Order: sequence, then C-alpha cells, then structure tokens
Amino acid sequence: MSLQLGRQSFGDPSNRGNVLTRLEARALLHDWVKNDRLKLHMEQVGGLMAAWAKKTLGLDQEETWKWEMAGLLHDADWDQWPDQHCKKIIEYLEEKAVDPEIIRAIASHGHLHFGVEPETRMDKMLYAFDELSGLIHAYSLMRPGGYEGMELKGVLKRLKEKTFAANVSRDDIRDACERAAVSLENLVVFIIEHQGKSKNQATD
Ligand SMILES: [Fe+2]
Ligand SMILES: [Fe+2]
Repeated sequence: MSLQLGRQSFGDPSNRGNVLTRLEARALLHDWVKNDRLKLHMEQVGGLMAAWAKKTLGLDQEETWKWEMAGLLHDADWDQWPDQHCKKIIEYLEEKAVDPEIIRAIASHGHLHFGVEPETRMDKMLYAFDELSGLIHAYSLMRPGGYEGMELKGVLKRLKEKTFAANVSRDDIRDACERAAVSLENLVVFIIEHQGKSKNQATD
C-alpha cells in the first residue's frame, strides 16, 4: 500500500483566504474521527499551530485560524480510511475551495509517505509539531502530575529511549527541526508550555 499522492500542486490559487468556519471544521472532525485519542492529537496539534502563528510569528486572527485549521484536520481521514490518508481530506478541502496553503501543509505532513516536501513555514511547523506533540503527550500520561512540572531534560531523556513511544520517529523529529530551523530544545519547551495549558477535551 502506498500513500504517495503523486502530485505537488494542491487547491486552486484563486481560493486564497478561503477557510472553513470553526464550526464546520469541528463538525468534520467529529464526523470523520471516532477515535478520541486521535481527536485529541489533532486538537493538540491545532492548538500548537495556532499558538506558534500567534505568539511566535505575530500573525493576525485570520492567518492564525489557517494554521490551526491545518493542524486540526491534518489526520482527519486516518481513523476511517487509513489507506487513503491524506488523500481523502485533501480532496474534500479542494472540493470546499479551501485556501491551497492549508491543503499543502496537510499534504506535506509526512513527506516520506505522501511524497510532498514541507516547503512553506506552515508546512514545516505542522511536520515538526506532529510527532513531537504525540511523544510529549505520551510522556505526560506516565507522569503523576501530567504536564505539571514537566521539564525539557525529561523529554530529551524519553527521546533517547528507543522503546518509549517507539512508533514516534526520532529521525523525523530531527529532520523536522532542521527544516523548520527551530532547535529541538525550543520546540520541546514550547510544546510543554502550550500543550500543558490547553484545556482541549477529546470528547467535547
Ligand atoms: Fe498523519
Ligand atoms: Fe498527526
């Protein structure tokens, strides 16, 4: 089975600025994704993308929502159609005439699988947050206090333990940080701070 998308161009440039509303995006998430853990992962990545756009890049509300939307929907088809990940969500968003920037970011979140290189800053940050967010969440679940008191060095230690969250690719994390030109340390600290604070619930 190959998830290669076989193309490099996504969406229509004349759709720039088109987004789903928050309600529409959430309805899609709930319709397509039944697995609560996956839902939480998508919400967490969406939250990180929004926080990065707003706080680190100083983007306005409209642009920030584009970043959040890419994060929120990047795995939308993984639960029900894993063999069509991320073809199905891309085609859906193209049908809905969504901004190509968002579609491209989703299409490049796993370049080894989909054959699309992360190029824009949105692409690169989605790629960078995806794996690392999951590893840090897994770490929070094994700590009595969750994110409370979590430190950079604890996360770095888990990263070195190959058996911890073994499905999370350390190579991808290293590669993503390099591409995004963000140090692993800074990214971990950012995720601890923002993911820990987020009140997202998978079941809302
Ligand atoms: Fe994915
Ligand atoms: Fe993901």
